[in-house]
Amino acid sequence: MGKDTLTITDNRTGKTYELPVEHGTIKALDLRQIKTGPEDFGLMTYDPAYTNTASCKSRITFIDGDKGILNYRGYPIEQLAEQSTHLETAYLILNGELPSKQQHDEWVFNITHHTMIHENIKDVLDGFRYDAHPMGMMLAAVGALSTFYPEAKQVRDKAVRRDQVFRLIAKMPTIAAFAYRHAMGLPYAYPDNDLSYCGNFLQMMFKTAGRYKVDPVLERALDVLFILHADHEQNCSTSAMRGVGSSETDPYSATAAAIAALYGPLHGGANEAVLRMLDEIGSKDKVPAFIKECKESGGDVRLMGFGHRVYKNYDPRAKIIKKMADQVFEVTGRNPLLDIALELERIALSDEYFVKRKLYPNVDFYSGLIYQAMKFPVDLFPVLFAIPRVAGWLAQWEEMLEDKDQKIARPRQVYLGHDRRDYVPLESR
Ligand code: SDX
Repeated sequence: MGKDTLTITDNRTGKTYELPVEHGTIKALDLRQIKTGPEDFGLMTYDPAYTNTASCKSRITFIDGDKGILNYRGYPIEQLAEQSTHLETAYLILNGELPSKQQHDEWVFNITHHTMIHENIKDVLDGFRYDAHPMGMMLAAVGALSTFYPEAKQVRDKAVRRDQVFRLIAKMPTIAAFAYRHAMGLPYAYPDNDLSYCGNFLQMMFKTAGRYKVDPVLERALDVLFILHADHEQNCSTSAMRGVGSSETDPYSATAAAIAALYGPLHGGANEAVLRMLDEIGSKDKVPAFIKECKESGGDVRLMGFGHRVYKNYDPRAKIIKKMADQVFEVTGRNPLLDIALELERIALSDEYFVKRKLYPNVDFYSGLIYQAMKFPVDLFPVLFAIPRVAGWLAQWEEMLEDKDQKIARPRQVYLGHDRRDYVPLESR
């Protein structure tokens, strides 16, 4: 193996440059020395949607898209889904190591005792119409939290950051449940500290008169789903968290930006879009016609829950979720839409259009079927993605703040607009 450098010859000038290669990358800034003359700004890279640009160095999550590998801090997602809990996984993602018993108990205690939200947040939620989308309500409520904890602006203070981490992880389920109760015209069910993180969320959601009995199978299924959604390296919403956080705004405002990004149907909104797509297809025998419409649409009609920027193989999370569906359906009854989903997958995985583009089921393809069977309304599905992902967003945000390479995010552009021109008064136009 030769030197870890790249030799570039600029054919415009005949000059050659030798750039260091580190971790399989060259520093974009090293290209600026490549000029055609003293007036030249120097070379930049052009990479819309950052399809081939590393925005940071990270030690949190590793994905191998070709092999379908996903590790949090080195631990395979399959082992964490099997043996861990969401809160323990959140600790791992945020702290880099699995907690000791004492660390785990302290962590769970701190989160359990931050689940209440200020009564004024209820007024924020009550200001929405009954049919407001819960992601819009969560976006607003989390942004509003920044005004209740002004000390959160001290983003360089580790102890202050830790308190906001407790609050955000603890309060997301409460806000989600309250948004649902608002839509249903039900009284808010307050947190119950005697229950687990997921058990408490289920009771805040579905408690009616009398004591709510948590079903252990559904409680565990939700916990596993939360583990699977906790982080996913530099996805769209994490990039929003890092980008907005780089201005040193408070973590609630940065999280609101991440929620806004996750809301989109190409990202976290896909699990909701999958259910709407399955409903629209309506029956197994209509699947071939839908697949045909997808292929002929030039990308306008997409098989939601399929495809991924990084995974060019089966999303390992989708495999786990698909397996888990049967356990949930034993309790809730089988979701009839599963037959349509299985038929879509069967046909797509053998169809040249999807095979050539390496389109496989992603995390969103089966998760919605489980959520629907657990009686969550379809529009709440992206919110169920946001709840666990806040741990990943916060870990990535803290890593950005601690990274000496990082500063306020401000990309360049390729300007193709008008040259300087003089204003023309209205009467002369
Ligand atoms: C998540 O980044 C992450 O890590 C995200 C996530 C996380 O945990 O944070 O994993 C969560 O967002 C999962 C993805 C959920 N989104 C969907 O399921 C929506 C449907 N899928 C897509 O729209 C799409 O696959 C993306 C957005 C996920 C990825 O898009 P890319 O990488 O930009 O790929 P592309 O749009 O350039 O598509 C490449 C080709 C195109 O066809 P051609 O132009 O080459 O002819 O594949 C086609 C696309 O039209 N294509 C699809 C398709 N996805 C891509 N065609 C049909 N159905 C699809 N789902």
